[in-house]
Amino acid sequence: MTAEKKALFSIMPSDVLRRLQLCRHEPDAVQWSHIMDYDQTNIPAAYDRGRDLGPEVLDLWMHALEAHLQDLNVIKILDLGCGTGRFSEALAVYFKAEVLGIDPSAKMLERAREKHRDSRVQYQRGSAEAISLPSGSVDMIFMSMSFHHFSNRALAARECRRVLREQGVVFVRTGAREQIRAYPYVPFFPSSGAMLDELLPDRAELRESFERAGFHMTAWEIITQTIAASWKAYADKLSAGGDSVLARLSQHELESGLAAIRRHSAKAVVEAIVEPIDLFVFR
Ligand SMILES: C[S@@+](CC[C@H](N)C(=O)[O-])C[C@H]1O[C@@H](n2cnc3c(N)ncnc32)[C@H](O)[C@@H]1O
Repeated sequence: MTAEKKALFSIMPSDVLRRLQLCRHEPDAVQWSHIMDYDQTNIPAAYDRGRDLGPEVLDLWMHALEAHLQDLNVIKILDLGCGTGRFSEALAVYFKAEVLGIDPSAKMLERAREKHRDSRVQYQRGSAEAISLPSGSVDMIFMSMSFHHFSNRALAARECRRVLREQGVVFVRTGAREQIRAYPYVPFFPSSGAMLDELLPDRAELRESFERAGFHMTAWEIITQTIAASWKAYADKLSAGGDSVLARLSQHELESGLAAIRRHSAKAVVEAIVEPIDLFVFR
């Protein structure tokens, strides 16, 4: 085992370690390059400033989810990889449901708990590869921008199948490899394209992870969301430091890219900056 892998093992929660060791018969299953320990970064403190969506965009997402529910009665939602709870409260309010947010990062959860207002929302430390819930106990699983961080995506999909009740639904809100060139910051940070290429699943891979776990994909769509009102506002959000790909860039590339966006903002017409996000629905 390389020194890098040893270091990763040493910071992993013991339940995840146990599960990963159970996967020794799937030697390629653990994707070391995807492991991002948010607790070893400054992202948690910056996340909400850098990644805030605002009520209109949250509402857009809640409507998009509702459109796929059919007659499903949603009582319990699992927000898997909930981070700072950017969606957790909105899910509880919109669907009038109990929400359990699970995330391995103590620092992201600390932020989530600081903002905690709705008593239907609870947070717990844990990981997608070892969900601490009984079988068949949730009606909806929502994952936003977390799937690509899972160290073992196949195991995570099987855990989703186990904890979801039979008629339940899984939503995966994610970046996809096919969309990288459409992400607005990519042209400004030359290394980010290759990093995203390494990190993000392609659509067929993602679908296969869930179908192998016993799901069927019932819908897939691209939702275009506004992330900033102008290029200037976009540069301000990015400079807060809430993005895990930009956090891996050299300081030089980060600063040059931000300066390039600001120069662009001085010349460009004022326009909203939009981002296409994939939404997968599995049952
Ligand atoms: C980009 S943040 C997304 C947070 C939140 N879902 C949102 O959309 O704002 C990715 C989150 O995935 C979490 N994560 C990383 N590995 C994970 C795992 N194995 N299981 C569950 N969550 C994980 C990280 O700790 C981080 O909080």
